[in-house]
Amino acid sequence: MEFLELAKKRYSERSFDKSRPIEEEKLSKILEAGRVAPTACNFQPQKIYVIKSEDALWKAAKLTHTYNAPIVLLICYDTNVVWKNAREEGYNSGEQDASSVLTSMMYEAEDLGIHSLWIRGFNSKLVAEAFELPENIKPAMMLAIGYPTAESQPSPRHTDRKSLEDTIEEM
Ligand SMILES: Cc1cc2nc3c(=O)[nH]c(=O)nc-3n(C[C@H](O)[C@H](O)[C@H](O)COP(=O)(O)O)c2cc1C
Repeated sequence: MEFLELAKKRYSERSFDKSRPIEEEKLSKILEAGRVAPTACNFQPQKIYVIKSEDALWKAAKLTHTYNAPIVLLICYDTNVVWKNAREEGYNSGEQDASSVLTSMMYEAEDLGIHSLWIRGFNSKLVAEAFELPENIKPAMMLAIGYPTAESQPSPRHTDRKSLEDTIEEM
């Protein structure tokens, strides 16, 4: 499928079929897409927790809406590894690196027929506590993945996009 077609086809899944597991081979491909994603200076500060045990899924569902996903990828970054910008005090690339990794995995999943949901509606301090993350590992976002139920459909927001004129300006 052409990339733009794939990008338009993807929508946020909020109705996962938990009874249909993701094949190991497909999960490996999704994780591989994250591995090869670009990161600042190629420092690769990402740390991804594959949440799939009942206990860990339950914990995740208590921290945010995971919509019955059979797997939730918790994408974190290591503050000891992130790129720090000498031209801007206080900046580090962790959130952007994590977004880059998530985006690669999200589209690989879509290409494999697996739906996904980008999740940031959680409190990162509570997530770090619940999963007992080391101090240097910061939760950035989650990507819930799985097959959709028969009832699945995109929300109205999926097609509600601004025009290029609204968001692009030539200089
Ligand atoms: C940074 C970011 C955070 C998001 N957090 C959540 C979230 O916590 N829960 C949720 O249901 N959707 C979340 N979304 C999904 C957006 O709401 C969704 O992508 C947007 O409304 C467009 O809909 P579509 O993905 O179906 O095209 C998030 C998306 C992004 C990029």
